[in-house]
Amino acid sequence: MLLTREEEAMLSGNEGFATQKCMQILVALGRIYGAERLVKVSSVQVSGVSYKNLGDAGIEFLDELAKDGRARVRTTLNPAGMSLTDWKKQGIGRAFAEKQLKVIDAYRRLGAEVSCTCTPYLAGNEPRFAQHIAWGESSAVVYANSVIGARTNREGGPSALAASLTGRTPLYGYHLDENRRPTWKVQVGVPLESPEDFSAMGYFVGRTVKDGVPFFAGVGSASLEDLKTLSAALASSGGVAMFHMEGITPEAELGADGADTIQFTSGDLQETKALLNDGGVVDFVSIGCPHCSLGEVRTIAGLLRGRTVTREFWVCCSREVKRLSDESGYTRLIESSGAKFATDTCMVVAPIEELGYRVVATNSAKACHYLRNGGARVRFMTLEECVAEATRTA
Ligand code: F3S
Repeated sequence: MLLTREEEAMLSGNEGFATQKCMQILVALGRIYGAERLVKVSSVQVSGVSYKNLGDAGIEFLDELAKDGRARVRTTLNPAGMSLTDWKKQGIGRAFAEKQLKVIDAYRRLGAEVSCTCTPYLAGNEPRFAQHIAWGESSAVVYANSVIGARTNREGGPSALAASLTGRTPLYGYHLDENRRPTWKVQVGVPLESPEDFSAMGYFVGRTVKDGVPFFAGVGSASLEDLKTLSAALASSGGVAMFHMEGITPEAELGADGADTIQFTSGDLQETKALLNDGGVVDFVSIGCPHCSLGEVRTIAGLLRGRTVTREFWVCCSREVKRLSDESGYTRLIESSGAKFATDTCMVVAPIEELGYRVVATNSAKACHYLRNGGARVRFMTLEECVAEATRTA
């Protein structure tokens, strides 16, 4: 692989231990995937922030890098396993909290912004069209590639961190035009009437196309929330990193000539929703996978006005969206119902099984997928149904 003089210096250890280690990771990755060279990135989103996923080995790795490593580009963090300020209110135990705070301290020393959100594009880290980035949150990867037109592979924790500490990533995969072309055409034959319909469609299509690039035809319009939840679902049931949507996403004019076609029907929509429903009495309700937009927070506030929640209800969002919610008066409405904001974290990366919750209602197919993998029963509902469930008295 061709390296510049500066990159050679990093690889030789002239710029310190952490940079050398990171460059070794990137060169090894580049060789595996046949990259000709590295490319500079403008931002990094690091996944692997929850202590639940990282464990003690992860803390050791981060501490080692933090001895002399520093982020060279804007670096934001995925959600942690708890709210960094309100973890006691969430019922998180001290042992877990102390470990989680060590993880955050290491990232801070490495120069990352302690943003702790999976929607960095709603919290100030918004790349531009065609910019190369190295993002490690699968839902944000799909959103950035597809909706914004930026360029990133699905980075793992170590490769994203390596990109942060060197400012580079290997030039392969979705950084190259030829890999961004549609490989499947999805003919949508049912009106999509809510973000939950988009989420279910993403779950269905991800299972079919695996790591392909679907091109959606027949979708009239899509909101930010529709595209956000579609991105997450595609990346959870499959390995999708990018999609196109006719008339909506910026590279959709490529068309889907020659791609295999699948249909998405009203039967597929209903079956997928049924598949994401395990039944059972709900004891935990959570909205915000991916983290809520301000529009979603506004809707929740409107639905909760004058009502009281009867079971644990989390609204997961970034600190930035929470700040805007505070300013707009939505926070007061939500919290006076007994519902809680969960900033910095989410229902999947927090240790909810240790908190004793067994049946979770949510409006995200991605959350259902991972919660179920973690041993919970799930109920996939619309946002309105989730609020009704959270305030049900019988
Ligand atoms: Fe975000 Fe957690 Fe869902 S990190 S995409 S809210 S699983």
